[in-house]
Amino acid sequence: MSIFRDDVLRGKVALVTGGGSGICKGIALTLASHGAHVAVMGRKLEPLQATVAEVEAAGGQGLAVAGDVRRPEEVEAAVARVVEKFGALDILLNGAAGNFLCPAAQLSPNGFKTVIDIDLAGTFNMSRAAFSHLQARGGSILNISATLHYGGTPMQGHVAAAKAGIDALTKNLAVEWGPLGIRTNAIAPGPIDGTEGMSRLAPGEMRDALIAATPLKRFGRIEEIAWAAVYLCSPAAAYVNGATLVVDGGRWLNNMPLPG
Ligand code: HXC
Repeated sequence: MSIFRDDVLRGKVALVTGGGSGICKGIALTLASHGAHVAVMGRKLEPLQATVAEVEAAGGQGLAVAGDVRRPEEVEAAVARVVEKFGALDILLNGAAGNFLCPAAQLSPNGFKTVIDIDLAGTFNMSRAAFSHLQARGGSILNISATLHYGGTPMQGHVAAAKAGIDALTKNLAVEWGPLGIRTNAIAPGPIDGTEGMSRLAPGEMRDALIAATPLKRFGRIEEIAWAAVYLCSPAAAYVNGATLVVDGGRWLNNMPLPG
């Protein structure tokens, strides 16, 4: 997963929500390969345990914690378990997300609310629960956003609204918690290969169209998001606070793709 091993995160403790699959699994493994102890949280224990097994096989220390980011009591318990095992919490990666394609006119109120609850309220619930621990040693929060809401994206109104809220929360926490020693940033990934999201959301022709519209002419790779996460969580980004780093091959800037 990682092109290099380093100890830039040695001694740090990270908690990655959604770390059982996709981009967030890649981030968890890469944080671990850079020296962090990594806990992963999600609704299903089995994929989390698989991530931890990979961390441990590579010589790192990991922890799988089952919990739903929508349930504040499960969130509190998960954070407490991480601190109990590793003695601290330095990095919170908010990656748990729900997604499906649905035109707004057909989306039920509960369908809309469900994605807002997972993505946006989940990010708040986790950040709130982690706050005192992050403050104790000077930590950082990294939220996974998207580029959907930079324009309008059909069938993604629920996700776009949730991610726009995450961007707002990122800036707000950066301002409120920066003075307390907590940096808050976000990554906005473009289309990334090898994720459940992309295989379900952008099959066939849609994939080709996305690639055509991307200046770098390909999907991104999970490790390319993970390296951005290592940077933002590391001392190399010590003065970066409230930023959203777009990692999308320049796709969202491309108003009019060149022919060919
Ligand atoms: C319309 C749907 C739906 C669908 C669920 N709902 N799937 N509506 N189309 N395909 C509605 C349900 O009908 C219900 O509303 C409400 O949503 C809750 O559904 P449940 O299945 O009861 O909820 P839950 O079990 O909590 O599951 C929520 C879920 C989740 C969002 C569907 O299972 C999920 O997200 N799975 C995929 C996870 C995933 O792919 N994550 C990666 C995200 S990628 P009613 O009214 O019937 O009660 C990503 C990248 C963004 O975020 C950028 C992309 C470019």
